[in-house]
Amino acid sequence: MTEPSAQPPTEQMITEITNTATAELDSLQDLEAIDQWRVLYLGRRGTLTTVLRGLASLEVDQRRTIGALANQVKNTLEERLEVRVRQISEEALTLSASRDRLDVTLPGRPALEGRLHPTTQIVREICDAFVAMGFGVVEGPEVEWDHYNFEMLNIPKGHPARDMWNTLWVDYEDPTGEKAMLLRTHTSPMQARVMENREPPIRVVVPGKCYRYEATDATHEWHFYQVEGLAVGEGITFADLKGTLYEFARRMFGEERKIRFRCDYFPFVEPGVDMSIDCFACQGEGDGCRICRDSGWIEIMGAGMIHPKVLEGVGYDTEKYTGFAFGMGPERIAMLKYGIDDIRHFYSNDLRFLRQF
Ligand code: DAH
Repeated sequence: MTEPSAQPPTEQMITEITNTATAELDSLQDLEAIDQWRVLYLGRRGTLTTVLRGLASLEVDQRRTIGALANQVKNTLEERLEVRVRQISEEALTLSASRDRLDVTLPGRPALEGRLHPTTQIVREICDAFVAMGFGVVEGPEVEWDHYNFEMLNIPKGHPARDMWNTLWVDYEDPTGEKAMLLRTHTSPMQARVMENREPPIRVVVPGKCYRYEATDATHEWHFYQVEGLAVGEGITFADLKGTLYEFARRMFGEERKIRFRCDYFPFVEPGVDMSIDCFACQGEGDGCRICRDSGWIEIMGAGMIHPKVLEGVGYDTEKYTGFAFGMGPERIAMLKYGIDDIRHFYSNDLRFLRQF
C-alpha cells in the first residue's frame, strides 16, 4: 500500500475534513462503525494524520497557523468521538433494558436446599433414643455370609425359619457347593459379629439396609432399613427389655404411650415377643381408625431374650450372661408417625414426597 501523498495542507482542506467527519460521526449508530470512523480520520494513516504530515512542506509562518488549526481539529474530533461513544453505549443499554424488560427489583432465586431423606431422619431419631439410654451405634456389611445371617442366629440349613425370608443370594458357593453369601435379610447378623469382638456388658443398636426377594406392595419393599438392638450382660432380665422398649416407645410416640407384648417366634430369641403400642391416632378408641384398624394396638417391633444357642455360638457363658435383642423397621415407624400410606414412596425418588420431611 502506498502512503497517501502528503500534499501541502490548506485551511480549506482542514475545514472540509472537519465538516464531513463531524457529520459522519453524528450519523453513526454503533460502536463498530465508530471505530472504523476513528481509523479513517484519526488513525495512523487517517485523513487528518496525513494532513499533519504534510505540514513539513509549508512555509514556517503558515506551518504555525495551519498546524495550530490542525491540532485543534484533532483534539475536537477526539473529544467528539469520546462523547459519541458514551452516548451510543448508554442508548444501547436503555434499549436492551426496555427490550428484555429486566426487572432489577425482582428478588433473587433462592439456592436449592438439600435435606436428609426421611428414612435417614427416622433412623437417626431411633438411634438417638437408644443412645440416650447408653447404647452405642454400629454398622455391618450389607453383603453377608449365610453363617452370620442364619447359622449364628440359630437358623441352621433346612430350618423352616429360612422360608420366612425370600433371600437374594450372591453367586458364590462354598466348598460343599452350597450358596454361602447373600444380601442380608435383616440386621440381626450383627449380633454375633459384635459379640465375637467384644466382652459384655454390650449395648448396641445396628441401623442398616436389608434386602429380600419380595413382591412389592404398600407394606413390602425388596429393600428397606432395620434397626437391630442388642444388650448383653450379667443379670439382664425380661424386665430390662420391657423397661428399655417402653422408654423408647414414649420417646418416639409420646409420653402417654402404653405398650403390649405378645408371644411371637424368632429362632434367635426365647421367649420371643412382638411389641405393640396403643394407637396414638384413636387413643385405642377404634371406630374406623385407619392406623390400627380398630384393634387399638400397633405392632412396632420384634424382640426377646437372646437364645442360649446364640450366646453359646459366640462362646459366652450362658450361666453368667443373659441379654435381650430387638429389631424394627424404620420405614414402618415413619409411616405410622407421619401417616404415610405406602412404603414404596420412600424409594421412588419423588421430590413431592421427599420435600414434605
Ligand atoms: N430380624 C427380625 C426380622 O427381620 C426382627 C427381630 C425380631 C430382631 C426379634 C430381633 C428380635 O432382634 O429379637 O424380622
